[in-house]
Amino acid sequence: MATLGHDVVGIDVDVEKIAALNAGIPPFFEPGFPEILREALDSGRLSFSSTMASAAGAEVHFLAVGTPQSVEGDGADLSYVFGATRELLPHLSAGNVLVGKSTVPVGTAEALQEILDEAETGATVAWNPEFLREGFAVGDTLHPDRIVYGLAAGERGQRAKAQLDAVYASPLADGTPLIPTDFATAELVKVAANAFLATKISFINAMSEIADVVGADVTDLADAIGHDNRIGRRFLNAGVGFGGGCLPKDIRAFATRADELGVGSSLNFLREVDSINLRQRERVAALALAQLGTDPTGKRAVVLGLAFKPNSDDMRDSPALDVALRLHDAGVNVVSVDPAAVPRAQQLHPQLTTTTDINAALTDAEVVVLATEWPEFVQLDPTAIHARVKTPTIIDARNALAPSDWREAGWTYIGLGRP
Ligand code: UDX
Repeated sequence: MATLGHDVVGIDVDVEKIAALNAGIPPFFEPGFPEILREALDSGRLSFSSTMASAAGAEVHFLAVGTPQSVEGDGADLSYVFGATRELLPHLSAGNVLVGKSTVPVGTAEALQEILDEAETGATVAWNPEFLREGFAVGDTLHPDRIVYGLAAGERGQRAKAQLDAVYASPLADGTPLIPTDFATAELVKVAANAFLATKISFINAMSEIADVVGADVTDLADAIGHDNRIGRRFLNAGVGFGGGCLPKDIRAFATRADELGVGSSLNFLREVDSINLRQRERVAALALAQLGTDPTGKRAVVLGLAFKPNSDDMRDSPALDVALRLHDAGVNVVSVDPAAVPRAQQLHPQLTTTTDINAALTDAEVVVLATEWPEFVQLDPTAIHARVKTPTIIDARNALAPSDWREAGWTYIGLGRP
């Protein structure tokens, strides 16, 4: 927003995070983010604050707090959404817009508008779902593939639309499809998109289970069905499954919300999508254990990857981390390798042995699991590393390697749904 020319204050309750950001230090790994943060700070148009009073005087307030899975069940924890809104109330002025970015259960925008109205703020809610992918956050933000506005009915909604149009004015919105709609639709767009993506991944993972039984190749299958434009090849990579801070918790929260709305049976299939996905992690851990003989205790396994996807240090609901923890719990001497997530893993999961040094990790390994397809893992030279390991067995849990290259170099190659 600041690089687009707006004056921006970023507010968070985490004092340390705010201090780091003001010093130009990103609190997470994201390609291109350090540069754009520095540029924005240098422009003088961006600052960070840990006091809500810093919001006073702004015309547009983005609400981008987390909506994690609640500790009691599968629903979303909305305490940050409502907490931040209530704290913001005294600092809102008539004509302000509160723009929801957080992924929320349908009905939340309406509830927030009621809170603003009861407090007689004269401010209006708009819902503007966020579609950025981690690892591509900067590009996806500056060049979105669509912009969705959930607007209140009537003149109020039109005023909010004009304010959002001004925020997203050229060049960001140039040529970008704009979909103005109502609150409920805008809220649903986000969870429907993530549910569809999750379903696509679990579909191909289910195919990989079938392929394993009959000796078929799920990557050829995905290529072949993906050439049909109606299906498309993207999000058809079978493997250890989806993770991260969005897809898993969003499908659970969506199914839970459907239950609350009395239409649970419409989204029952999402529970199946979830269980296919979780099965993949078990499947990979079981495959690794099977390579270690009847007693895996103390045997050395290497898991390549900790983050839930490459170009991120995010380990929320990470399949790679899950596999490593399962092996660790089974008594295996597991070493996890990741280019970005090690510092955070050492804080959050001190029981795991973690390193950025691939070669040191591979020394004397009895099985290697590729769990996150970082380029440095995919580009490993199977011939060069063959002599390091004790047993040359690779489980390609992302189907990201060329089986023939590894087999020719003397490895036992095991993919998911690949003969
Ligand atoms: C997702 C949505 O893509 C994004 O639009 C939304 O705003 C937030 O949630 P993100 O969580 O960053 O983004 O990751 P994404 O690229 O969607 O990948 C999610 C997971 O699916 C990763 O664990 C990835 O490894 C896995 N995945 C993806 C597969 O297992 N197979 C695939 O073919 C694609």
